[in-house]
Amino acid sequence: MQADIGVYGLGTMGGALSLNLAEKGFRVAVSNREADWIAPFVAGAGPLAERIVPREGLEAFIAALTPPRVVLFMIPSGTPLDEMIAQVTPLLSPGDTIIDAGNADFNDTERRARALAEKSLHFVGLGISGGEEGARHGPSMMFGGSAESWDRLRPMAEAIAARYRGDPCVAHLGPGGAGHFVKTVHNGIEYADMQMIAEIYGLLRDGAGWEAGRIGALFSGWNAGPLRSFLIEVTAAVLKARDAGTGAPVVDAIRDRAAQKGTGRWTMIEALKLGQAPSTIAAAVDARVWSSQHAARTAVAGAIPAGARDVAIPASPALEEGLRAARILAHLQGFELLRAASGAFGWALDLPRIAEIWRAGCIIRSALLDELAEALRAVPEGAPLLLGPGLDVTLARTVPALRAVVGAGVAGGWPVPALAAALAWYDSMRQARGSANLIQAQRDFFGHHGFERIDAPGPHHGPWTAKD
Ligand code: 6PG
Repeated sequence: MQADIGVYGLGTMGGALSLNLAEKGFRVAVSNREADWIAPFVAGAGPLAERIVPREGLEAFIAALTPPRVVLFMIPSGTPLDEMIAQVTPLLSPGDTIIDAGNADFNDTERRARALAEKSLHFVGLGISGGEEGARHGPSMMFGGSAESWDRLRPMAEAIAARYRGDPCVAHLGPGGAGHFVKTVHNGIEYADMQMIAEIYGLLRDGAGWEAGRIGALFSGWNAGPLRSFLIEVTAAVLKARDAGTGAPVVDAIRDRAAQKGTGRWTMIEALKLGQAPSTIAAAVDARVWSSQHAARTAVAGAIPAGARDVAIPASPALEEGLRAARILAHLQGFELLRAASGAFGWALDLPRIAEIWRAGCIIRSALLDELAEALRAVPEGAPLLLGPGLDVTLARTVPALRAVVGAGVAGGWPVPALAAALAWYDSMRQARGSANLIQAQRDFFGHHGFERIDAPGPHHGPWTAKD
């Protein structure tokens, strides 16, 4: 049996994606670097095994594909992928397609797409979100590559994608690295959302003395309202889970050191290169870094004063509304970054469509994304996304609660870096006249950098004389 597509890499995600493809009727050749993973995978595929074509070794794997061939790699995207591309390229023919379905630095994707185009091979950078469950039953997918690749692969992609009210959660976002870039920013927003949720949990645990299960119950309630989302649902489930032996909340036994594989950091690196400042994402990356400095925190804890005062943690409706405001702001920062990238790289990213394909399947799926899709469609071309119709009204209503939450954290000495970053951005963007006139004056004083005046064309220098 010849296959419609080959999936190389039978880890959790690759395996799940292969089964999803087979379930939708596609014949899937599978292979893996460790050949002894292949047989157990096929054995576990049940009736779907009849559409799985197991192959050991790259040559046999490629030979099992119907031309023009489509090979999907789900392997670590750094050097291992480059090595794999080098090995597979001589086995392919002009018109064949290589898909990288892992999380990749979009700069690498751009480079790989260019190099393969010279060999008349298509390269697709496919951002996939949704974890194992998504890959198996319907992920959200961000497709980057040529229009020709999209035309060819679209039926397959739409067949396996998550659906939101029937609409497949996959779109062709642009050439080269566009899909991986959007996936990276998705993860940046994921970092910010997770961090803000964790800050609310921290306030309730440390500021209000709530037990994990009680916080979990509160989150379950929120999941029935405007905060409804996969991450709130997951958080509630996690907080309610208890150790089989002791009956104690599992979360209480987990070390407070957050790992990170790099997509949050990549989001910030690209944002800074583009002159953007998605501060909620930066705060989330920072917080993970601080969390990893466990030894330093342990040494400092109790050794330096809090300088805090006794404050009450705001009640549940304020926490819910405050989190809602901060979540909107974090998403808007992510979308502003996408818009900047779109302009800089000439991608014409369709922002509302991106919000739409994030409504199901992916990790940040939420009720908010439906609201956002609508607002992003309605916002006038080039206008700040903060003015998105409807969102401005929600923000006006919920920002007072965010102030109360951040205020309590600040006064009480409980860290709320991402929530505070959201609020600081909101307040900074509300200022038609900020305080940067002083920065310009300082720069001119010590470096003769010049400044613009509001009342005369420039550039100008100040009459600075003394350093008093
Ligand atoms: C997704 C997830 C997925 C993965 C993250 C975790 O969209 O399905 O984002 O890609 O879970 O990469 O990233 P960290 O290990 O950096 O938290």
